[in-house]
Amino acid sequence: MTKVLNHISEVRAWSALMHENGDSVALVPTMGALHGGHLALVEEARRRAARVVVSIFVNPLQFGPHEDLGRYPRTLAADLEQLTALGTDVAFVPTVEEMYPEGPALTRVTVTEMSQVLCGRTRPTHFEGVATVVAKLLNIVGPDVALFGEKDWQQLAIIRRMVRDLNVAVDVVGVATVRDSSGLALSSRNQYLTESERDRASALYRALEAAREAYDQGRRDRRVLLEIVQKTLAEAEIQPEYVELADPDSLKPALNHLGGPTLLALAARLGKARLIDNVILGRT
Ligand code: PAF
Repeated sequence: MTKVLNHISEVRAWSALMHENGDSVALVPTMGALHGGHLALVEEARRRAARVVVSIFVNPLQFGPHEDLGRYPRTLAADLEQLTALGTDVAFVPTVEEMYPEGPALTRVTVTEMSQVLCGRTRPTHFEGVATVVAKLLNIVGPDVALFGEKDWQQLAIIRRMVRDLNVAVDVVGVATVRDSSGLALSSRNQYLTESERDRASALYRALEAAREAYDQGRRDRRVLLEIVQKTLAEAEIQPEYVELADPDSLKPALNHLGGPTLLALAARLGKARLIDNVILGRT
């Protein structure tokens, strides 16, 4: 059974003991409401380290004032069952007071530039909240490896950059997006979708795939590729918040004529849900 630890001191002591015993430790940070995407992270973590800790913490710092902090799904009992089934060693489940005992942290980690593009345009404080809590989790657990889903590509790129900039001794591993049979990327926020919105939401991946097909057939013109995405979305009556092509590491906008591997990312609101998805064009 997965051991539940609620206190920073307990998880620190557990991780130190594992390391003393010569066991490597993997951390999978989550906000709970676990789905197949999270489970793929845990499975990969198991392959990469002797011990696995999954953190479950809905981090208030990464939600904007009018976002879904209050209604974000919380399914702890079901989460723990799934983690036990996968042989997770520890679930670290702190309270907000445990993580922010003096109120919202005054010290923030800001990965400048990369946090203001793509999703950062409409969520200007989101990635600062993410980078700050991930830095805290890395300091608390001291893992050898930390795993994140590629669905949140911007988050993954920002965390990689933070780890490099701050010389954090951890290996950051990205894990491929898990999709349902319609192509929709699994996300805890899919729970907000009605049945008809869910049907329409499958157009997000169809649009990305249509652009990928064109890219694979030799199309390199930025405008043409973006138009292909927009057209598929329009057919499903989806007005995206953005569709962009960018460098997968720096997140800088792609040139008009695409060179090497390029991130094609989008975000769209469907009813109560804000969905994101991406593919990497030209990735071998
Ligand atoms: O991807 C998430 O679920 C969150 O942003 C993370 C990385 C757990 C930080 O709160």
